[in-house]
Amino acid sequence: MRAAQVAAEWARVFTLGKARGKIADLFEADAERAERFSRRACGMLYDFSKTALTEESFAALLELAEAAEVPAAREAMMRGDKINTSEGRAVLHTALRAGPDAVIEVDGQDVMPEVRATLGRMAAFAREVRAGAITDVVNIGIGGSDLGPAMAALALAPYSDGPRLHFVSNIDGAHIHDVLKGLNAASTLVLVASKTFTTIETMTNAETARRWMAEHGGEPAAQFAAISSAEQRAAAFGIPAERVFGFEDWVGGRYSVWGPIGLSLMLAIGPEDFAAFLAGAAEMDSHFAQAPLAQNLPVIHALVGLWHHQVCGHKTRAVLPYDQRLARLPAYLQQLEMESNGKRVSKTGEALAFGSGPIVWGEPGTNGQHAFYQLLHQGTQIVPAEFLVAMQGHEPELAHHHALLVANCLAQSQAMMLGRDHAELPRVFEGNRPSVTMAYERLTPKMLGRIIALYEHRVFVEGVILGINSFDQFGVELGKELATALQPVLAGAEADLDSSTAQLVALYRAHQG
Ligand code: F6P
Repeated sequence: MRAAQVAAEWARVFTLGKARGKIADLFEADAERAERFSRRACGMLYDFSKTALTEESFAALLELAEAAEVPAAREAMMRGDKINTSEGRAVLHTALRAGPDAVIEVDGQDVMPEVRATLGRMAAFAREVRAGAITDVVNIGIGGSDLGPAMAALALAPYSDGPRLHFVSNIDGAHIHDVLKGLNAASTLVLVASKTFTTIETMTNAETARRWMAEHGGEPAAQFAAISSAEQRAAAFGIPAERVFGFEDWVGGRYSVWGPIGLSLMLAIGPEDFAAFLAGAAEMDSHFAQAPLAQNLPVIHALVGLWHHQVCGHKTRAVLPYDQRLARLPAYLQQLEMESNGKRVSKTGEALAFGSGPIVWGEPGTNGQHAFYQLLHQGTQIVPAEFLVAMQGHEPELAHHHALLVANCLAQSQAMMLGRDHAELPRVFEGNRPSVTMAYERLTPKMLGRIIALYEHRVFVEGVILGINSFDQFGVELGKELATALQPVLAGAEADLDSSTAQLVALYRAHQG
């Protein structure tokens, strides 16, 4: 019954998508279009007027969301139902930022006392480290155990008044080599961040860091801390329990910056600003939980995403922050969106009727303008753009820079929409390229929390409407298994390989002394 209704709503949306008109014409026809297709909530103006959506197609998308039972799914996630069905887990990153009175149960047990206790331990640890002699903190982790804190630490650099942060993720020895070479082992704290505490990159880097510290006058037994849901493995690595910060399996790696995985960020900005980061996310959570769908920023963000990718057929989406400190946001969103929704089958295992997650990419403006925007304006593929821009920078003395930054951001969305037709042929561009703009006052800890939570819930809503499980990631397992199997082969073991891989193995072997 529900599936049939969802299919009927999709069909309607597709019909409207085929008949979509020119974005500029929609503005011509409606003097109030900007207002009609913008929402103000959670400190943000979300303007989706520069898309081809009309009242009718937007209403149809909202009906699709209703048919797919987005409100019920949202409640199920937030109250701790095991919606990650393939792994039998709840999905409760929202619990990590829930207010002091929240009660959230998993298997009949309130998880909040533990969440609050861990947060309290993190804050006490951060205060002690920030007041002590540690000058540098190295976070060793990868994927969700790296991208969140690395993205947020850069974003919140103006709030950073603690030790310097460094991030080591890649198995490439060049990464850890270059990070450690400038550091004093005696005043460095190493955080080993791994949900599973088995990830080969992280464990290899952690062992290298431990050796380096011991050989350079540091004390690994006192200067290592661990962040993991596998507390026993962390203990086996030799990290004492008081410096192990645990979290439960209901926090997905790519959703984990709000808890212990955010410890490096807390060390840099302090527990109070970290609390503001959580409060921003919590504000977006309540908005997501309560606002009617037509006013709901994550829902609208998801519907715009589905419209562009599934309905209009645009294969990628560009995230273009006009906010240099959001330089790592596109990389962060690549994991959040592509690891969550890059799926080929539905929750129940059937092949999807149409594409799931789009390719997400981007760079901050204005740099991107001088690199890939040519294709955005005149390429044969249309790339819907997502602009993020602060109305104020953190450098009042450089306000003229900020004015130029904002002018460029606004000019780009205008140019993408309007194009230019009164010129010689190579200079003509048709325009009609969609974008949304998210404008906010300043990139504060609270604002960053709201932005990240907005994207998290967008991924969730897209996943619900597509009928997929956004919270597993079996696709990354095969590469890991093959890499493990190839290690002995590189060292000389026999294996039955395809001729390309065999050729590359032979070349590697030939280069080893
Ligand atoms: O390989 C993908 C992945 O499992 C991500 O989902 C995760 O964020 C990353 O590896 C790191 O995992 P862990 O935190 O367990 O080391």
